[in-house]
Amino acid sequence: MKYKKVAEIRNIFLNYFKEKGHTVVPSSSLLPAGDPTLLFTTAGMVQFKPYFTGAVELPYTKATSAQKCLRTTDLENVGKTERHCTFFEMLGNFSFGDYFKEEAIEYSLDCSVNYLGFPKEKIWITVFENDDEAERIWISKGIPPERITRLGKKDNFWGPAGDSGACGPCSELYLDRGPEKGFPECGTKKECKPGCDCDRFLEFWNIVFNQFNQDTEGNLHPLKQTGIDTGSGLERVALLLQEVDSVYDTDELRGIISEVEKVSGKKYAEETKVPFRVITDHIRSVLFSVGDGIFPDRTGRGYVIRRLIRRAVLFARKLELREPFLHKLVAPVVSIYKERYPELENHAASVERTLLAEEELFLKTLEIGLEKIEALVAKTVASGSKTFSGKDSFLLYGTYGFPAEMTEEIVAEHGLSFDKEGFSEELEKDRQSSRETWKANRSALFTGTKVDKTEFLGYSRLEAEAPITFAFFENKSVDSLREGQSGVLTFRATPFYPEGGGQQGDTGFVKKGSSLFKVLDTQKENDVILHYGIVLNGSFTVGESAVLEVEKERREKLKSHHSGTHLLNGALRKILGTHVMQKGSVVSPDYLRFDFSHPSPMTGEEIRRIESWVNESIALSIPVETKVLPIEEAKKTGAVAAFDEKYGDSVRVLQMGDRSLEFCGGTHVGNTRDIGYFYIKKESSPGAGNRRVEAVAGPAVIETFQNRFAELTESVQNLNLKIKEDLGPESASLTIQTHVPGPEEIRSLFRAKGSDAVRELRELSEKLFFEIEETQSKFLKEKKNRESKDFENNPTVIQSVLANAESAGTTKVLKAIFDSKDAKALKGLSDSLKVREKDMVAVLASRNEEDASIIVTCSQNLAGKVVHCGDLVKFACELLEGKGGGKPDMAQGGGKNVSRLEEAVQVAVDRAKAALNGSKV
Ligand code: SER
Repeated sequence: MKYKKVAEIRNIFLNYFKEKGHTVVPSSSLLPAGDPTLLFTTAGMVQFKPYFTGAVELPYTKATSAQKCLRTTDLENVGKTERHCTFFEMLGNFSFGDYFKEEAIEYSLDCSVNYLGFPKEKIWITVFENDDEAERIWISKGIPPERITRLGKKDNFWGPAGDSGACGPCSELYLDRGPEKGFPECGTKKECKPGCDCDRFLEFWNIVFNQFNQDTEGNLHPLKQTGIDTGSGLERVALLLQEVDSVYDTDELRGIISEVEKVSGKKYAEETKVPFRVITDHIRSVLFSVGDGIFPDRTGRGYVIRRLIRRAVLFARKLELREPFLHKLVAPVVSIYKERYPELENHAASVERTLLAEEELFLKTLEIGLEKIEALVAKTVASGSKTFSGKDSFLLYGTYGFPAEMTEEIVAEHGLSFDKEGFSEELEKDRQSSRETWKANRSALFTGTKVDKTEFLGYSRLEAEAPITFAFFENKSVDSLREGQSGVLTFRATPFYPEGGGQQGDTGFVKKGSSLFKVLDTQKENDVILHYGIVLNGSFTVGESAVLEVEKERREKLKSHHSGTHLLNGALRKILGTHVMQKGSVVSPDYLRFDFSHPSPMTGEEIRRIESWVNESIALSIPVETKVLPIEEAKKTGAVAAFDEKYGDSVRVLQMGDRSLEFCGGTHVGNTRDIGYFYIKKESSPGAGNRRVEAVAGPAVIETFQNRFAELTESVQNLNLKIKEDLGPESASLTIQTHVPGPEEIRSLFRAKGSDAVRELRELSEKLFFEIEETQSKFLKEKKNRESKDFENNPTVIQSVLANAESAGTTKVLKAIFDSKDAKALKGLSDSLKVREKDMVAVLASRNEEDASIIVTCSQNLAGKVVHCGDLVKFACELLEGKGGGKPDMAQGGGKNVSRLEEAVQVAVDRAKAALNGSKV
C-alpha cells in the first residue's frame, strides 16, 4: 500500500464523491443542531438526520463530508489502547432517496481499491444476517463468498443517532492485516474472520442502508425513501494506509505528540505513551468543542468537556507537568487543522483563555486532592471494603473538583469499585442544604466582640494579601482553622465581594505557603466580610497574612449580569415610566432576575423595545463611572435607590452615561460594551401587583439562543414528519421550510452583528414559533377533515349502523352513539346513510368528556309529513340540558349532560317510531 498522509486521504475521499455528483458539505458543529437528545455530533450522518426522514425539503440528494465527531463512551480506555480516541474525523457519502445498495457498494469498493489504494484481495466484507441482496451484490463486484461474513444486529445494524431517527442494516469493509496480527490461536485452534476480537481484521468503512425511522419509543417505521449513510474513520484509514499499529502513530496525531514533547520536555516512549496519548486526544477534543461554543461547565455537555480537561491535567502529572500547559498547545494544534477547519483560528484566543482559566482552577486543588484520594483509598482498603464510598467521592468532587468518573478511574486502578448511587445521593443532599445554614448562623458570630470593618478591595482587584482577623469553626471564634475543617475566615481587607444588592458572593481561594482554603461563598455581617469555606491543606491562624484570590471567570459573568440589570432598570423606567421601582433582584453568574412595581403584564412590543434599548446602550460603549458621595449629595443627583437597601452616610453612585444612574455597591463592567449582549427570556408576575423579568447577558445569550433554536428545529422536524406521515407526500406544501439557524450560524451572527443579533434572532424565533403553532392548527384541521371524510364514508361504520337498525313498518330507524366526532362528521355520516336508505329515520350522536351532540335526519318521503326532525331533536336535547332544533328533514343540537345521552337518543327513536306507527308527533 502506498503511504498517504491524513490530509491526502481526506481529499481523495471528498474528491472521489464530488466527481460522482455529490455535494461536498462542510463539517457541522460538534454541538448537534436540533437534537437535544444527542450530547455531541457522533457521526457524519447527524447533520443530515432530517434529510433521511424527509422532515425538510432536500437541497441535494447526494452529499459527502469529513465530519468532526466526539464520542466519550469509552473515555477511560483512551490513551491505554492503540485505537481509542474521543475526537475523530469521519468521512462519509450519503444518499437521500437517491442511490441505494448497488451503487453504495460499488462506490466503496472502487474508492478504497482504485483511489485510496487498498489491495482488493485483502478486503473482507460483513453483511447483516438476512441481507442476501447485499451479499449477492458484493459477489457480483468480485468479492468471493468465502470473504463475506454475516453478522447479527449487535454488529451490523446501525442507529439511530440520538433517541430517534434513521437507521438500518449495514455492511462493512475490513482489511486483512495478516495472521501475525491475530491471537496466537487464530487460524489454528479457531477460525479467524471479521467479528473476531483480535487485531487481524480491521473495519475501515461502514455502509448503512437506511430503511427505517425509529421513534422515541423504539418502534421501527419503514422510511418513505431509503437512504445511504456511510462512515469511514479517517484515523483508522490512515493507520491502515500508513501501515502503523496505533492511530497515535499516524502523521497528524504524531504532529500533536511532538508538540506535547516540546511543551513537556519529555520524549514519547513506551513508558510515557499513555499520558502522551491522553493529552493528544483530549487537546483535540477540547479545542474543537470549545471552538464550537461548548464551554466547560458543571452540567451537560460542558461537564464532559470539563472532565476531558481535568483528565488531561491529571495524566500530565506523569510527565511532570504541574503548571497549566494545555492552552500552550492550542496554537500549534490549530495550525495543523486550520486549513480544513478555518473557523478554529477565529476561536483560538478564546479557547486559550478558557483552557488557562480551567486548568488554573483545577490545579489549585489537584495536588491536595490526590493526596486525599490516596488516604481515602488506604482507609477503604484497610477497612476490608472493596467499594469506594459515595461520601468520599462526593468529597473529592465538591471540594477538590474531581469529576466522579475520574475518581472512578483512579480507584479502579486500586481494584476498588465505585458507589455511583451513593455519590448521587450525596449530590442531592448537598443541593438541598449548605448555604442556608451558614447564613442562618452568621449574626451570632460576633456577639460581644469588637470588630473592625473589612476594607473591600474588589472593585479594582481580584487578588490581594491581608492579615486574618478572625477564624470561626462551628460558629465559635478559634485561633486557627485546620485542615478538613469548614468554617469562616475574615481579613483586614479582601477582594471578595460579599452577597449584596442581589449580586451573589464571590468564590475562590485563600493561600498561605502550601496552606489552601477554598472559599465557597462570601457574605457580610454589618461591615465585616465573611469568607465561608473549607481548609483543603495546612491551617490558617489569626494574625497571619494570606493571599486572597477571587475566581475570575465567575466574577466576569456576575459583572455582565449586574451591569445588564442596571441597564434593564434604566430601560424599564424609560419605556414603562418612572413609577417602576425595583422590588427584588438576583444577579447570578448564569442569569439575572429583576422584580419591579408595574400594574400590568408587559406587551410583546414593550419587551422588544426594552431589550433593544439595553442592547443599544451596550453598542454605544458607554464608560461605567462610580463616585462615592455623602448620602444627601447622592440623593440630589437623582440616582435611583433600591427600596429595600439600607444606606450609610456615604453611598456609591454608579453611572452609565445618560442611561443609568443608581446607588450601587456591586461590581460592574468598565464599559457597557463589555456586557456583550442582553436577552429577555421571560416576563411573569411574582405576585402583589409586581412584574418579573428573567434575562441573560454576555456569552450566556449565545448559548440561550443555541438551545432555543435547537428546540425549534426539533419541533419543526417532528411536525413536518407528522404531516407527511399522516397526510401523505401531497401535503408537502403544508410543511415548514423556513431555515432554522444552527449553533455555528448563531455564533457567526453574534460575531458579525454584536448585540444587534439579539433582535434578529428574537424576531426569527418568534416568527418560527408562530409558524409552528399555525401549521400545527392547519395540520390538525386538515387531519380532522380527512378523518371525518374517512368516517362518513367508512363502510365498516355504515354497515354497523345499518346492522343495528330497528324498524317501524317499512321504515328503518337507525341509531348510533360515537366518541369524539364533531357535528360535521355526524352530518356527513347521515348523508351517506340517506344515499343508501330511501325510507329511514336516523338518530346519530357523539360524546366527549364535556358535552354531547346529536343529529336527527330522515328521508324526504317522511320529512314534515310523518316526522319532524326539529321536534325530535328538541325532546332529546331537553334531557341533555341543552338546546337543539332545525328543519323537518334534518336537525341538530347538543347539551352538557353527557350521562343521559343514551336516554336522549332513545327518546328521539321512540318518538319517531310512535309517529311512524300512526300517532303523529
Ligand atoms: N453512521 C454510521 C457510523 O457512524 C455510518 O456513517 O458508523
